[in-house]
Amino acid sequence: MRETVTAIVKSQKFLMDESSRVGRLGRRGFLKGTLAAGSALTAVPAWLAAAESQVPAGRKLRVGHIGCGSVSHAYLPSMAEAEFIELVSVCDIIPERAQSAAQEHKIPHVFPNIDAMLGGPKFDLLVNTTSMPSHYPVNKKALEAGCNVWSEKPMALEVKDAHELLDLAKKKGVQIWAAPTCVVSPQFRYMSDMIQGGKIGRVTAGHGTYGHGGPTWSAWFYEKGGGSLYDLGVYNVTTLTGLLGPVKEVVGMTAVMNKTRKVEDKGEVTVTADENTMLVMHHGNGVFSHVQTGFVYFEPEAPSRERKVYTIDITGTDGSLHVQGWDWSPAAVDVATRGHAILQPQCREKWPYEWVGGARYVASCLLSGQKSLITAEHGLHVLEVMNACHESQATGRRIAVESAFKWPIFG
Ligand SMILES: NC(=O)c1ccc[n+]([C@@H]2O[C@H](COP(=O)([O-])OP(=O)(O)OC[C@H]3O[C@@H](n4cnc5c(N)ncnc54)[C@H](O)[C@@H]3O)[C@@H](O)[C@H]2O)c1
Repeated sequence: MRETVTAIVKSQKFLMDESSRVGRLGRRGFLKGTLAAGSALTAVPAWLAAAESQVPAGRKLRVGHIGCGSVSHAYLPSMAEAEFIELVSVCDIIPERAQSAAQEHKIPHVFPNIDAMLGGPKFDLLVNTTSMPSHYPVNKKALEAGCNVWSEKPMALEVKDAHELLDLAKKKGVQIWAAPTCVVSPQFRYMSDMIQGGKIGRVTAGHGTYGHGGPTWSAWFYEKGGGSLYDLGVYNVTTLTGLLGPVKEVVGMTAVMNKTRKVEDKGEVTVTADENTMLVMHHGNGVFSHVQTGFVYFEPEAPSRERKVYTIDITGTDGSLHVQGWDWSPAAVDVATRGHAILQPQCREKWPYEWVGGARYVASCLLSGQKSLITAEHGLHVLEVMNACHESQATGRRIAVESAFKWPIFG
């Protein structure tokens, strides 16, 4: 697994460099803090190691990568280092970005759009890290061409479009998955087992929070199809639905807090997407949770494994669970139970680079036949919940949610 560790280290190096370029993204602050504090990268993420160990020796999956912006600089090194991944093609509508990615990672074929890319050499998995409004049209074309798809979140902007993608994948005999990867963390598994095992009694409530000052590089984050809920709150919605079950109804409020923002690609832009969001979910049987997320949050001390800032809290009748650090990169789970009210840190397993390992994880699942813990149905449900929040804001009503997914994830 040396390759995996190397990939993690290389990717983190990029993020440290990138951190000084783009400034305030919380994830990067976290990674920078982790390395500055001297944390050793000693362990391969447990789930990644487990999935990759199942890949038959010598097997390779052909991958095409589309969208060579900010996050691709973390995805590509991770995939390039995986011995079971062959990076076949790379694509961006800004051609110099694709050229530069191809050069850096020795990817032989470069394309300026998805049609040309799909008309070129065949690949088995499309990894889509384009801007959010491009996800659905790009994912749809790839599925139509018979490719599996790993998409950054969300897989589409409209629930009907996400249904269409799932139906299309089924028809074509391929699969689609959407980030984030929260449900494959050891800390998620630990909390799921605690809840399902009745260790904190009857679970009644949950809370998630994730915010920072907002991306500084691309305008689309602040326009229709962007926003803090799709970009950041999505992690908490995935974690809380994964732990407490599918949502039945939603109440939400969103706000635009700045008339304009300055971004690197377009200068001053008008903000129309949510910058401050409060989402309340009813998981059925009186179990509630809520997510607060925003591009208007104080974040000089991004929660890391060195700082015990809680971002997810689960409350039951006999105990509570509290995630240290962001849920896409948790450090530990603090636990209090009846008779042991002092919070005790549990599940400190290190896996410093989970959030960008999703494409690599599903690639190993495709090669090994192992079932992915991340599912298209969960991704679709999370999208419906987020859209219900926007609908609740627009109408002032409580919104029913129809979709569901197989739960509990660890039965
Ligand atoms: N930046 C991060 O740290 C980060 C972290 C986790 C997840 N994400 C997610 O990754 C996705 C991309 O984010 P980003 O920050 O890299 O955005 P970005 O704006 O930096 O990059 C997007 C890239 O996609 C390209 N693109 C857009 N539409 C395209 C199309 N139809 N065909 C080909 N290329 C196209 C753009 O030219 C751009 O280079 C988003 O869903 C975001 O939420 C980003």
